[in-house]
Amino acid sequence: MPDQPQSPAPRTPNDLDAFWMPFTANRQFKAAPRLLVAAKGMHYTSDDGRRILDGTAGLWCCNAGHGDRRIVEAIQAQAGEMDYAPAFQMGHPKVFELASRLAALMPGDLGKVFFTNSGSEAVDTALKIALAYHRVRGEGQRTRFIGRERGYHGVGFGGISVGGISGNRKFFGPMLAGVDHLPHTHLPERNAFSRGEPEHGADLADELERIVALHDASTIAAVIVEPLAGSTGVLVPPKGYLARLRASCDRHGILLIFDEVITGFGRLGASFAVERFGVQPDMVTVAKGITSGTVPMGAVFARDAIYDTFMTGPETAIELFHGYTYSGHPLACAAGLATQRVYAEDGLFENAASLAAYWEDAVHSLKGLPHVIDLRNLGLIAGIELQPIAGQPTKRAFNAFLRAYEKGLLIRTTGDIIALSPPLILTRAHIDEMFGILADVLREAA
Ligand SMILES: Cc1ncc(COP(=O)(O)O)c(C=O)c1O
Repeated sequence: MPDQPQSPAPRTPNDLDAFWMPFTANRQFKAAPRLLVAAKGMHYTSDDGRRILDGTAGLWCCNAGHGDRRIVEAIQAQAGEMDYAPAFQMGHPKVFELASRLAALMPGDLGKVFFTNSGSEAVDTALKIALAYHRVRGEGQRTRFIGRERGYHGVGFGGISVGGISGNRKFFGPMLAGVDHLPHTHLPERNAFSRGEPEHGADLADELERIVALHDASTIAAVIVEPLAGSTGVLVPPKGYLARLRASCDRHGILLIFDEVITGFGRLGASFAVERFGVQPDMVTVAKGITSGTVPMGAVFARDAIYDTFMTGPETAIELFHGYTYSGHPLACAAGLATQRVYAEDGLFENAASLAAYWEDAVHSLKGLPHVIDLRNLGLIAGIELQPIAGQPTKRAFNAFLRAYEKGLLIRTTGDIIALSPPLILTRAHIDEMFGILADVLREAA
């Protein structure tokens, strides 16, 4: 008799083994797990029953705070009324209603909305629309994309290609062909401890002219940047930078895409970075705050003229061969509509704007604490950069993350930078508590 195959060890329901965690040090986490079991307002509850102040709006997404009754009830009602409707050649009322509502919120003529399920899908969708748009116009040779160093545009092959984080790129082969990158805008030697937009670095946008000269404008489809780079450590755009990028794109017929997955929906104290900076791109990608993180959803806003360019062939023809089974999922639409109502009813973008100066002072109160080498802020975002421990990059900030969690505060770290982005429902008292805990954590690390 051949040996019977060994049956695997039985798994208990609480076994941590099977779940391959995303962007996580799996073995370290599973040795000392941090589990959240409930959330309400500004707080999580951990599995050991502690209240954890949410300094990160989950993952930059829960802008309306947690467990808002109006959003919860809208999702519950929709689940009972209609679970799903086919997304292709069919529609349902809420998807049109949400698109109209979002288009009205977005400044300028970015009046058409294509739904996805995540920021990564929104980015891939925007890149594909850019390629198809040029092709429909008879400029199909425009196939290059220009991203930026230290940019994060999710984890699809398009997103990692235009993104500028080597760890996210190096394992995954050649990616999209024909992509080039602008230099990042982080200039600590000139801009350290800037309040709001830094003074220096607008000229870095002119690097686009060098890249255009190298490849020729006729080969370039689009430039994509985060107006404020979040995931690589809160890089606030230098004054005038985005306007210069816009002017360069205009000169060369290149589409400009803003990735507002983080900056959208009030984070900067305005509806979108488009409004905050007064610069009009050709497409905008969003996710996260669109449903306040309650149901996965992303979207691409496109200028009306882009959409109109596609609406030229026979009326029976599908104009764009792209879409997802769950584009405009009814639950996500119900969540999105309720979320947008909450933002408006409670004036959450206005709350973010009115707290921005108090937040800025709180951020910069950390100046002089041990190992703090830079502080940056805009709207309700902060970046706190720490001097790395020699030979052990990322450890200092990660230790701070662990200590803050023990003390009841959730922060996020990237490299040796702490990033903060609280729900927009917060108050001055929350800001005081947050920075009080952080100051203790940083002092103890000395
Ligand atoms: C600017 C930006 N773009 C895209 C993404 C990807 O979004 P998702 O994780 O929903 O795919 C993120 C996520 O953090 C982001 O910050």
